[in-house]
Amino acid sequence: MVAMRETPGTVNYTDETVRGFALAAVLWGVVGMTVGVLIAAQLAFPDLTYGIPWLSYGRLRPLHTNAVIFAFGGCALMATSFHVVQRTCQVPLFLPWLAKFVFWGWQAVIVLAAVTLPMGFTQGKEYAELEWPIDLLIAVVWVAYAVVFFGTLGVRKVRHIYVANWFFGAFILAVALLHIVNSAAMPVSFWKSYSAYAGVQDAMIQWWYGHNAVGFFLTAGFLGMMYYYIPKQAERPVYSYRLSIVHFWALIFTYMWAGPHHLHYTALPDWAQSVGMLFSLVLLAPSWGGMINGVMTLSGAWHKLRDDPILKFLIVALSFYGMSTFEGPMMSIKTVNALSHYTDWTVGHVHSGALGWVGFISMGSLYYLIPRMYGRKEMYSVKAISLHFWIATLGIVLYIAAMWIAGVMQGLMWRALNTDGTLVYTFVEGVKATWPFYAIRLLGGLLYLSGMAVMAWNVVMTVRSGRPAPSPIPRLVQA
Ligand code: HEM
Ligand code: HEM
Repeated sequence: MVAMRETPGTVNYTDETVRGFALAAVLWGVVGMTVGVLIAAQLAFPDLTYGIPWLSYGRLRPLHTNAVIFAFGGCALMATSFHVVQRTCQVPLFLPWLAKFVFWGWQAVIVLAAVTLPMGFTQGKEYAELEWPIDLLIAVVWVAYAVVFFGTLGVRKVRHIYVANWFFGAFILAVALLHIVNSAAMPVSFWKSYSAYAGVQDAMIQWWYGHNAVGFFLTAGFLGMMYYYIPKQAERPVYSYRLSIVHFWALIFTYMWAGPHHLHYTALPDWAQSVGMLFSLVLLAPSWGGMINGVMTLSGAWHKLRDDPILKFLIVALSFYGMSTFEGPMMSIKTVNALSHYTDWTVGHVHSGALGWVGFISMGSLYYLIPRMYGRKEMYSVKAISLHFWIATLGIVLYIAAMWIAGVMQGLMWRALNTDGTLVYTFVEGVKATWPFYAIRLLGGLLYLSGMAVMAWNVVMTVRSGRPAPSPIPRLVQA
């Protein structure tokens, strides 16, 4: 067999869009988390915004969720998927002009969301609040994204499709399907429409969407990051390629059926609720399979965790992934959900996944990616990455511990009965008892946001001290 080695070629990867999305992710991260801190403060101090309608909690909450999930998370996913697909296929992006359209189109969606949500325009569907004209724009941008991503896969020079691309691909296809089906609506004016579905069908379609938004937007795409950036940063191959394939198929098959766990004890038929619970319990296995595959990639390189803060972000992200995917199946058990539903336990669960898993895996990946996009070996300040890691970790712990205690306390207070069958506590007593935990959550959120501000500073300094670096595609030549 002829020995081959890689030499830099003359064609460059198309990284302009990757750079754009990476910087946008950091910017929207700061914005979305600032709104998160503001609404956390409103829950502790309800009169904070003087009753100004467009600063009211009901309008800012969807602004927060849209900004952190679709703006921060979405831009991080687009940056990394475009970076990874080029490197693993060894070709530049397919149709670079279309990739630019995806970038500007997505930023337009974000700005439109930031304007219309505070004005009160909403379809009232959680995580799918945006009104129909914006939904149409999202569909067009998303199809363009799919064309660029799958087009790049189509013209690849490497026969094999690396597993990270399977996860990114599933995320792109599933989100297209979810968005188009759940957003079907009848417009009655430019900023008002009614869902195409009614009653319990509407609820079921909404939570089929909602849960798979978790499964595909907040999980599958970020697993794509895990499968590329952990091996790269640890300089080790993925622990088990076979496990990654089983992980992929088991995860995407199971997620699709778990949505009814959001509708326990509702008008949804009981059997459908039980199916949702069953599939949620099964979901523990592929989730943990994936987590183990990521963590075990560090076999033989554990010592690197001691002084590599990027690896700390990536591995602690997996610990939170493991934690929230253990907690989720437990909360899907009907009797547990009878206690947890409507309480802050759910909010604690959400943020152990959101801050710990989604936030940390994105931050770790961006810390790997950004210096390389600007011709530097590492970020401007490695110490600042470490500082970010520690304040953010402390912030998460305060946030989720406060919400767990508050949630279980609320659930128990609401169901406590006197011997004559009357309630032991009035609702407002539960609210009063929760107050200290809202204050602790606010502190945790402030710490997490401060970490993000440190990151933003570090990114600005990195960009200023580097310059957009052309990255040549390697060529295989005879050794
Ligand atoms: C500084 C960081 C953050 C703070 C202080 C914060 C705060 C909050 C608050 C106060 C709520 C409303 C809770 C309620 O309705 O009782 C909320 C909801 C939510 N946040 Fe955050 N958040 C932060 C970061 C994030 C991030 C990074 C993500 C996702 C990647 C995220 C995703 C969500 C989601 C999905 C909800 C809705 C939860 C539900 O409906 O149960 N948050 N956040
Ligand atoms: C095996 C995996 C998981 C299962 C089975 C699961 C299950 C659950 C359950 C039972 C609820 C409460 C539903 C309710 O009472 O209303 C819930 C809520 C939620 N989970 Fe998970 N979870 C999982 C993983 C995750 C991860 C990794 C994230 C985030 C990255 C996440 C984000 C959310 C969100 C955002 C909600 C709140 C939805 C809402 O009411 O607005 N979950 N999950």
